[in-house]
Amino acid sequence: MSLLEVKGGTKKYGVFTALKDVSFAVGPNTFHGLIGPNGSGKSTLLKAISGAHYMNSGAVLFQGEDVTRQPAYRRSRVGMSLKFQITSVLPELSLFDNLLLAKQARQSIFALVRSATAKAMRDEIMIDLERFGLGRRAHEPAGILSHGQQQWLEIAMAVTQRPKLLLLDEPTGGMSLEERRATGEFLQPLKPSTTLIIVEHDLDFIRTICDTVTVLDQGQVIFNGPTSDLDASEEVKRIYTTRT
Ligand SMILES: Nc1ncnc2c1ncn2[C@@H]1O[C@H](COP(=O)(O)OP(=O)(O)OP(=O)(O)O)[C@@H](O)[C@H]1O
Ligand SMILES: [Mg+2]
Repeated sequence: MSLLEVKGGTKKYGVFTALKDVSFAVGPNTFHGLIGPNGSGKSTLLKAISGAHYMNSGAVLFQGEDVTRQPAYRRSRVGMSLKFQITSVLPELSLFDNLLLAKQARQSIFALVRSATAKAMRDEIMIDLERFGLGRRAHEPAGILSHGQQQWLEIAMAVTQRPKLLLLDEPTGGMSLEERRATGEFLQPLKPSTTLIIVEHDLDFIRTICDTVTVLDQGQVIFNGPTSDLDASEEVKRIYTTRT
């Protein structure tokens, strides 16, 4: 069974149609790339999946359950976590406290009371900071991090919620080649426990970490399949050679 399925998704902003009849599915423990030219609807699709906004028609199924009409916080509680394209780090708070807030945002008050002790939660947060190379800076304010480190902190904030489905919108935007490579290495160990849908412009990055890919063009799916088939697709070649 697919972990996530989008069926015939259409999203309009006023009279403009940003997504047209988009369908694709992602299996468990899969890293799935979402690519396409600027304005092709990638962020709109991630928002529709996470519930940040609703589609006009079509359905989103998560673990076989129809979540199309569920608000974002409900989808988050059942295991989705989204990192937006725009930063959501609180610069005056420490790295540790940014993760603590993210962790608590995911859980209901009952779960917080029942679940981990404060110590167990602290330990998990430190593991997540270390996973992204930020352990030694845990108690420094997030605002003094470099751009790349802030991006890693944000990914860590999504990861610390232990999502089954992690949605990342251009997490490597503005990063150096070296930082992009490190990001791929930080993400790889999550595969046994997490499905990832990642928006990314760098095709080499996608080829390195993704098993499957969906390509959007003007709100429509023009390719859907294994990453290894991407280079043979005439449609993909057409948009990447003529427009980017
Ligand atoms: N809130 C909004 N209101 C009106 N139009 C919007 C809104 N958000 C996005 N759009 C339009 O919908 C289209 C798809 O936008 P979207 O942000 O999903 O593209 P994208 O593929 O993520 O692009 P990029 O690569 O630049 O991040 C674009 O034409 C954009 O201008
Ligand atoms: Mg976008």
